Amino acid sequence: MSVAEVPTTTARVRQQYEYLPYPHRDPADEKKRLLLTGLDDLSCLNHYCYRGKKNIAAGMRILIAGGGTGDAVVYLAHQLRHTKCDIVYIDLSTASQTVARKRLAARGLENRVRWIHGSLLDLPEMNVGQFDYINCSGVLHHLESPETGLAALRAVMKDDGALGLMVYGQYGRTGIYQMQSLFRLINDPQADMGAQVAAVRQMIANLPVCNWYKRGAELFAQPARMSDSEVLDLFLHSQDRAYTVPQLYDFLASSGLHPAAWSSESRVWYQPQIAFRDPEVLARIQKLPRREQEAACEVFWGSITKHALWATPQPEAVAQWTDPDVVPTWTRSADLFNVRSAMLKTSNPEWCYSLEYSGGTKMQLRITLDDHTRRQVELMDGFRTVESIQGELATAFASKTAEQIQAECAEVFRLLNSNDLLVLRHKSVRPTTA
Ligand SMILES: C[S@@+](CC[C@H](N)C(=O)[O-])C[C@H]1O[C@@H](n2cnc3c(N)ncnc32)[C@H](O)[C@@H]1O
Repeated sequence: MSVAEVPTTTARVRQQYEYLPYPHRDPADEKKRLLLTGLDDLSCLNHYCYRGKKNIAAGMRILIAGGGTGDAVVYLAHQLRHTKCDIVYIDLSTASQTVARKRLAARGLENRVRWIHGSLLDLPEMNVGQFDYINCSGVLHHLESPETGLAALRAVMKDDGALGLMVYGQYGRTGIYQMQSLFRLINDPQADMGAQVAAVRQMIANLPVCNWYKRGAELFAQPARMSDSEVLDLFLHSQDRAYTVPQLYDFLASSGLHPAAWSSESRVWYQPQIAFRDPEVLARIQKLPRREQEAACEVFWGSITKHALWATPQPEAVAQWTDPDVVPTWTRSADLFNVRSAMLKTSNPEWCYSLEYSGGTKMQLRITLDDHTRRQVELMDGFRTVESIQGELATAFASKTAEQIQAECAEVFRLLNSNDLLVLRHKSVRPTTA
């Protein structure tokens, strides 16, 4: 091959996703289930990115950049099916786009989306307009220059817009990068991708227990259950980098973006009060800037394989309980698990909610159900504002001061919000459709 024929990074990445679209999805499954993507729940998006003030149902412009086989575009189009919102999808891989289109077609929503085949790097020149929300999950870390990709997205994002981003986490993927180096050394570059995937499967089935990937194998799907496209994506990617927390903060800053919040699926791993039990250590860590607190957590756990978060050009985009005009709103997850009615019905003095995180770690969310909390949950009916809830509680619990009521309510909200069971929307905003 002459120098002129060496494929560009974009061409190599495209070739991979043309050969095996990722993730593997069967459009027929749309008849059986809806996959929820953590970053794209509209009520959470409103809470974390627009201070609860975005009238999403009234119309907004959404871009799914590197949309792959369609998880995000399906979930967003489903939630927005009764609105006039503009939804634009772009991906390099025609094979992936075909799968995504078939999934939307199975839901009768294919024509709700504008489909673009191309590179997100070209978006600023494509005359696509400006977007309120951009989803870009698992894409930028595959670009030769992720900063250039992020800048291209920022160029088409409104100044009060938001980005739902997932990039790889460095420490959690330590074993993966060692395996990628191994396969670069030993795989036959002339062999087709199918043969390379088969060689990977054989090798990882026979690794010694001391191998770093093997030691942390529970952080990833079991190899026998991985589709070929997952094996290719994980072990044989031609262009793949990962970030530590400080690197991610710098990466966002390169396009003037601020981290708003981690996605609820991984938020727990960035919280010092969860990681550090020694009160003196915790107190020291909590004096550090947020970025260093989260960097300490990341190294403490060592298991973060993906960083999934919302980022915004505006700092302080998250809705606050201290705003009297916000309405506590139960999310789709809370509805799925009947959280509010379970809290109201139980006669137990405590309500307990079990959570399971990737890698199999289990945690429990516990809330003491005294009379005040029970009444607060009753009043949080999806319509009353914080001001009216706290006003009614002040009348019912006259022995408590306004400060006590505010503090107790805020703590119950904090606990329920920690796993996105409850979020806030401004009273001027219509609830988003489920
Ligand atoms: C790992 S997949 C992720 C797909 C999807 N975002 C998801 O989370 O399921 C990466 C996708 O990014 C696409 N991609 C990579 N580089 C791109 C670029 N420069 N422009 C547009 N799409 C790109 C690939 O074709 C592939 O479909």
